[in-house]
Amino acid sequence: MPTVLITGGHTGLGLEAAKELASGARLDLLLAGRDPNRVEVAARQIRSRYGVDVGVLELDLSSLASVRAAAARVRAMLETGEIDSLRAILSNAGAQFRGPVSYSADGYEETFAVNHLGPFLLVNLLLDLVSERGRIVFTASGTHDPETMDGKMVGAAVEPDADALALEGKNGEKLISGGKRYTTSKLATMLFAYELDRRLRRGQSSLASIAFDPGLIPETGLTRTSPGAVRWVARTSPMKWFLERLGVTMGSLSFSGPALARVAYDPSFADGSGKYFQSKNGSLIEARSSKASYDEERAARLWRDSERLVHLRGKEAPALLR
Ligand SMILES: NC(=O)c1ccc[n+]([C@@H]2O[C@H](COP(=O)([O-])OP(=O)(O)OC[C@H]3O[C@@H](n4cnc5c(N)ncnc54)[C@H](OP(=O)(O)O)[C@@H]3O)[C@@H](O)[C@H]2O)c1
Repeated sequence: MPTVLITGGHTGLGLEAAKELASGARLDLLLAGRDPNRVEVAARQIRSRYGVDVGVLELDLSSLASVRAAAARVRAMLETGEIDSLRAILSNAGAQFRGPVSYSADGYEETFAVNHLGPFLLVNLLLDLVSERGRIVFTASGTHDPETMDGKMVGAAVEPDADALALEGKNGEKLISGGKRYTTSKLATMLFAYELDRRLRRGQSSLASIAFDPGLIPETGLTRTSPGAVRWVARTSPMKWFLERLGVTMGSLSFSGPALARVAYDPSFADGSGKYFQSKNGSLIEARSSKASYDEERAARLWRDSERLVHLRGKEAPALLR
């Protein structure tokens, strides 16, 4: 049975998508997370409820060494037949850090490391292993667009300069807020998803690169570093009603999780490469992303700088894109 790899597939949106892939599409799963014991709890639950194979992959996106080890493990699983084929990658894990700036094991600002550099390296290392007509789906966020209420509420994304973002706070400059670090990392996700699509098309690949915004879902662990009272209020029905009236793109676990799964397996999204889909107030729609996200020069620069920051070696770059 084909397998779908989901980063952060043991919690929140990723877990809901995983359940839909297991129950609706009957696909095997590989759940990737940094604490294998916690991931195994979700894997066991899905195995026993839906009868599909669910593997656990140790992956810490804030460590380039961990990303390389995880990719090597997937390669070995395919070689030994532990998994049949890799149908799709859901690059879904992400984090938001409030408060003082923190750094990854490699010395990079943590939001940019977890939300962009780690996924960038992982997808590059695994791309050649994805089967024909497979899909790479990125969980982005409507907050990447500073023109929208989503973006305004969290903090307008700044220029996605990879070196500046990776070394944020190390050169004595004024720090940007945790909110802006998050929205800018999600702008990087959009630029990466679109640039990957362009490179795949140039290489005449059958793979698809798709971006997805789940909408605001206050119930997940994403806002765990926000004050408890803020998190509690955001989960109440009156507040959700108010946010929707304000123009915020609202999602929900029960709708956005299965929507993410559909983008990854449903035939109606087979021509979705290079597109952006949004779970918005109970509908799954194709949407326009921010103006900056379509800037091909910015995307090419981000790709080059990211390759350097993750030390992508020549032989590691996907043959598909060479
Ligand atoms: N919730 C929203 O309102 C919203 C809106 C737009 C976009 N999104 C995006 O949706 C995606 C899923 O988030 P969620 O809302 O479902 O929240 P969540 O439940 O907190 O899921 C985030 C996942 O990312 C994983 N993760 C964090 N740091 C990691 C690291 N260093 N290495 C590997 N995995 C790591 C977490 O694993 P641990 O369990 O180990 O922490 C968790 O499984 C994220 O990309 C988020 O940015 C969410």
